[in-house]
Amino acid sequence: MSGPPAAAVAAARTALERAVRVVVFTGAGVSAESGVPTFRGAGGLWRTFKPEDLATPVAFGRDPRLVWEWYAWRRETVARCEPNAAHRALARWILGRAGVTLVSQNVDDLHERAAREAAPDAERARRAEPVKLHGSLFHDHCTRCPYRAGARGAVDATSVATLPHCPECGGLMRPDVVWFGEMLPARRVEAAFAATAEAEACLVIGTTGAVYPAAGVVHTAKAAGARVVVLDPGATEYDGLADVKLVGQAGEVLPQLLA
Ligand code: APR
Repeated sequence: MSGPPAAAVAAARTALERAVRVVVFTGAGVSAESGVPTFRGAGGLWRTFKPEDLATPVAFGRDPRLVWEWYAWRRETVARCEPNAAHRALARWILGRAGVTLVSQNVDDLHERAAREAAPDAERARRAEPVKLHGSLFHDHCTRCPYRAGARGAVDATSVATLPHCPECGGLMRPDVVWFGEMLPARRVEAAFAATAEAEACLVIGTTGAVYPAAGVVHTAKAAGARVVVLDPGATEYDGLADVKLVGQAGEVLPQLLA
């Protein structure tokens, strides 16, 4: 795929350079070139699997083994992937200037890994780590008490008894991701929308913009007067409100745009 016209890249760069505060909003497309399947595109997860069977609290109640098996497979898939040029260009850019908030719908840890690679220490890496609106594939939380922890080792899904259980109260653990029909983590929503309401530019990368309330981030930015730059090889729900649309792959365009 040939990249976007130079004039469009220049217009996008100007919008980002002129902005004191920027929100970057990412979706599954930013991880596509790392080998992580998207949801709705070609080869997307929801083309093969039914979200109602795997990504709802009802599905988990009905068959926690099936749901855990699927998340274990997704963890193994992402663990074999590396951050790509898009994650890396973003991490370097965010660490190299002030005023950027990264908000992501992705539950993979590729933004975080790119941030840790680019930063001299964990403290500074945090500036380039995302506000994760849909949770994390690599954390679990208890279905009964507030216990939450990083995922530990392989999941044995042979029976409900062998699934991960809470060391505090013995309750069944579940992946720390937001399922359809569930509320987003309140503090993260506040952080994302507070940054968005003040942004002078919003860079949208690799999302169809189909899933609310997360998708509202870009509309909030536009309503607050931000210049909206959309980077995607295909059509998105945001194309109509984009000031600049960059048609291309994130891993090819971002290194140019953020150099
Ligand atoms: N670079 C940039 N964008 C890409 C690339 C790429 N290399 N490859 C694909 N895309 C784009 C697709 O064109 C599409 O617009 O990424 C987008 C992926 O869209 P979805 O699959 O709908 O994923 P996303 O928007 O992140 O989904 C939102 O839905 O299923 C839920 O919770 C899940 O967070 C997810 C939410």
